[in-house]
Amino acid sequence: MMHLVLVGFMASGKSTLAQKLSKCLNLPIFSTDEWIEKQSALSISEIFSKYGEAKFREWERKAYYEILALKKRCIVDCGGGFVLQGKIGELGRVYYLDVSLQTIKNRLDQAQMDKRPLSQDIDHLYLQRQIIYERECSVRAKKEEEILQDWKRINALLP
Ligand code: S3P
Repeated sequence: MMHLVLVGFMASGKSTLAQKLSKCLNLPIFSTDEWIEKQSALSISEIFSKYGEAKFREWERKAYYEILALKKRCIVDCGGGFVLQGKIGELGRVYYLDVSLQTIKNRLDQAQMDKRPLSQDIDHLYLQRQIIYERECSVRAKKEEEILQDWKRINALLP
């Protein structure tokens, strides 16, 4: 199944964008973070603090297989580290929402940081992740419009 997959750094605006795209394209959203919170009955920060990052990545792996098995096309809103799974291109057309580190820093106020266990030292993480997002994506986009145009073109070719 060819899903519309959104990847990018934490606080890059993936969830807001997913909502907009969902309305424009009339597609449901599968949020990996929300799915994990629901399945585990824990918040992301509780998973990190009680069981550590490795356990969270295991949950992401489960979410990956869940998405692979979906029968209906979706917008997949990926947590920032979901790309670490690799093979994300098997889920669909992958769009990297490219937002500058400064913009991310401006957005991450205390409340936002409390929800994100890895937001303490983002300079290094941002550089590391940027390489992975670029490698794993089909399209690097700064604006919603770029994604919409590309998706409409692709969609016309889909069965
Ligand atoms: C993470 C990003 C978060 C969440 C978790 C780990 C990461 O998602 O999955 O805190 O490794 O970058 P958002 O990108 O929605 O903040």
